[in-house]
Amino acid sequence: MLGAWGGWQAFRRCASLPRTQRAVRLRVREALGAREPADEVKVQGWVRSVRSQKEVLFLHINDGSSLENLQVVADPSLENRDLTFGSAVEVQGKLVKSPHRMQNVELKAKTIRVVGPCDTWLFPLKTKERHPLEYIRQFPHLRCRSNTLGSLLRIRSEATAAIHSFFQDNGYVHIHTPIITSNDCEGAGELFQIETSNEARESAEKTHFFSVPAFLTVSGQLHLEVMAGAFTHVFTFGPTFRAENSQSRRHLAEFYMVEAELSFTESLQDIMQVMEALFKTTASTVLSKCPRDVELFHKYIAPTQKTKDRLEQMLKNKFVIISYNEAVEILKQASQTFTFKPEWGCDLQTEHEKYLVKHCGEVPVFVINYPYDLKPFYMRDNEDEPQHTVAAVDLLVPGIGELCGGSLREERLPFLESRLQRLGLADAYQWYLDLRKFGSVPHGGFGMGFERYLQCILGVDNIKDVIPFPRFSHSCLL
Ligand code: 4AD
Ligand code: MG
Repeated sequence: MLGAWGGWQAFRRCASLPRTQRAVRLRVREALGAREPADEVKVQGWVRSVRSQKEVLFLHINDGSSLENLQVVADPSLENRDLTFGSAVEVQGKLVKSPHRMQNVELKAKTIRVVGPCDTWLFPLKTKERHPLEYIRQFPHLRCRSNTLGSLLRIRSEATAAIHSFFQDNGYVHIHTPIITSNDCEGAGELFQIETSNEARESAEKTHFFSVPAFLTVSGQLHLEVMAGAFTHVFTFGPTFRAENSQSRRHLAEFYMVEAELSFTESLQDIMQVMEALFKTTASTVLSKCPRDVELFHKYIAPTQKTKDRLEQMLKNKFVIISYNEAVEILKQASQTFTFKPEWGCDLQTEHEKYLVKHCGEVPVFVINYPYDLKPFYMRDNEDEPQHTVAAVDLLVPGIGELCGGSLREERLPFLESRLQRLGLADAYQWYLDLRKFGSVPHGGFGMGFERYLQCILGVDNIKDVIPFPRFSHSCLL
């Protein structure tokens, strides 16, 4: 329902309206939240149902501002054959108190204008049907008109705003890190390379547009590290691209990543605190801003009815912390047989991650201190023996596995220099070594996959169902 502020605004606009003035345009959400009747209002939207009775015509209209529809009550003489499910309409009339228990107000129509008709035979969505996600995925250009995608996209929008507010409220500076870059963030993922089209390449004499190979970003981390050296706390939240040819339910070629980098940070504990607070604050905001949209997922979409309870548990309890060494011991002692045998020095597979989460009671689990040889050069050496590790952290969550990856960064010039030299990367990373020469500070950060976060809090099984447009899933030019 409408928040107190929206309801008050709508009420003020209606209440202060002189009788002769033109109709006030209200969004469905505003109309539903109005506390007083209003004489002349105009609501625009798409018809979700038409029910014609002898004495009265009922319409439900929705304009994307809320899951709930506004009920329009009209004289049957206002019916016309273009007034069908899916058509776009403009209704003018009186907002009155509804006699029905399920709604506060309804719109008594004086006029109904069909702005855009809809051929219900050809329209793939059908009135009153809850279409399966697999079905609506075939119509990337129309599925946003379904209740499920409507709710998802409102939640996605609120979660995006909540993430920005979380960082801004905590003194972080937002940085737009580049999307086209020559930096491959050392093994964060497979790369998409940018090239000009053949015609453009023929007219230019050089091989590369930027004179060096350029890629779509796999992570903004190294750019954020530059900025953390001036602003202390920074974040970025943008599109990220990985060319793994994985058709899994948790991988996308284009996804959104939230990344943060914190200077003057000496312990993984500080990084984990931010990850946990980001997870919990964003989920609480989404729950309070769009409870009905979240309810739709927890009631009808999540594969198990446990998602709601699980989310409550996640928000209430402290996340668990275990070391990579402990994780491997837990996996070795598991009664379950894994496709990939757990061994010290091997990366944790999704099956391992899911087992660890279950073992810890279906709450999020931080796994810290991974083997030195598994991780990229920028992670801070723990200088331990005999099992050599770096200060890395992954956050594993129920139903998904890995949600966040991060680390303390190696801020000590000699350590970084010798590692880069061993890898033959010292020349390419002179600029990165410079950061350790001029005012270097202990620092660290992390990245969180936004789509996986939405999957986790809503209980959505397939990552394609939490993005606005499922890419290349249909022969459509989107
Ligand atoms: O663990 P990753 O690869 O971490 C980094 O890229 C670090 N440089 C981030 C940092 O420290 N600033 O990616 C971070 C998260 C993963 O944990 C996962 O949730 C998500 O990004 N992710 C994907 N989400 C959807 N589709 C993919 N192909 C993804 N690859 C990674
Ligand atoms: Mg990772």
